[in-house]
Amino acid sequence: MTSYKTKICCVIGDPIEHTLSPIIHNKAFQTLDLDFVYVAFRVGENMLEGAVDGMRAFNIRGMNVTIPHKVKVMDYIDFVDEVANDIGAVNTIVNDSGILVGYNSDGEGALRSLVESGISLQGMKVLILGAGGAARAVIYSAAKGKPHNIVILNRTKEKAGELADRVSAKTGIPVTAKKLENQSLKDEIRDTDLIINCTSVGMAPDLNGTLVPKNLLRKGLAVMDIVYVPFETRLLKDAREAGAIVIHGVDMFVNQAAFAFEIWTGCKAPVDVMKDVAVEALKG
Ligand code: ATR
Repeated sequence: MTSYKTKICCVIGDPIEHTLSPIIHNKAFQTLDLDFVYVAFRVGENMLEGAVDGMRAFNIRGMNVTIPHKVKVMDYIDFVDEVANDIGAVNTIVNDSGILVGYNSDGEGALRSLVESGISLQGMKVLILGAGGAARAVIYSAAKGKPHNIVILNRTKEKAGELADRVSAKTGIPVTAKKLENQSLKDEIRDTDLIINCTSVGMAPDLNGTLVPKNLLRKGLAVMDIVYVPFETRLLKDAREAGAIVIHGVDMFVNQAAFAFEIWTGCKAPVDVMKDVAVEALKG
């Protein structure tokens, strides 16, 4: 039951119809018996500023921001935290008495998923596939785990090079960049401990898409995919069959939601129930 006291959270984006956020946040609110509700709004690019003003006007407590607004929204809020600023994108906003502060929860979500899977990045060689927004979010968090080094492979080498320079300057972790090709993959995977696919390759409906030939995957490797639709991408299926440790995109998705939930409510998120409901919806 809602009342005038009910606190509202939401997600804005376009398209928005496939979002899992309302199901997992509402489940979490119910589990902890919090007087919160979470709704989804389709907001086109021309209405973004109005939507952020609406957050103030309606005293909406929390907002998730998804495609295509994650960069532009930074212009309309009051503060951007340092991590989100480095990444150059905001996906979570908290409204504290009319002051809007923006965060990026994706990197934290990735880090929490690795910790949950018992993976410590310390001393590892980490291979990042992709150099777009998702790669930017994941790589700063990966660097925080004090890996030995990070290698970025991207179809467009220049983008990987710029990101590598920025991350190594900021974090002190050695980061190198190469063009994504069969040979560079082969050379780099040989002594890699963890691969993180930060591209959209493998996302539905491209169910057979993968950047990594199966014969390069092996036992002892950990493989994480940011793609969570389908639940098990071709990359993760191949990795599982090769005996690698597998971290699903839905783990990162749920953990980034948990981070947002904690900022908005001040309560520890019930991650297990959130994951159950997300996996059920995906496998549905
Ligand atoms: P996001 O914000 O989701 O990361 P993005 O900024 O468009 O989206 O980045 C998508 C990433 O996936 C990029 O690294 C892109 O490579 P390019 O920089 O060369 O564009 C990568 N990507 C997308 N489709 C790809 C494909 N078919 N093969 C290889 N890389 C691909």
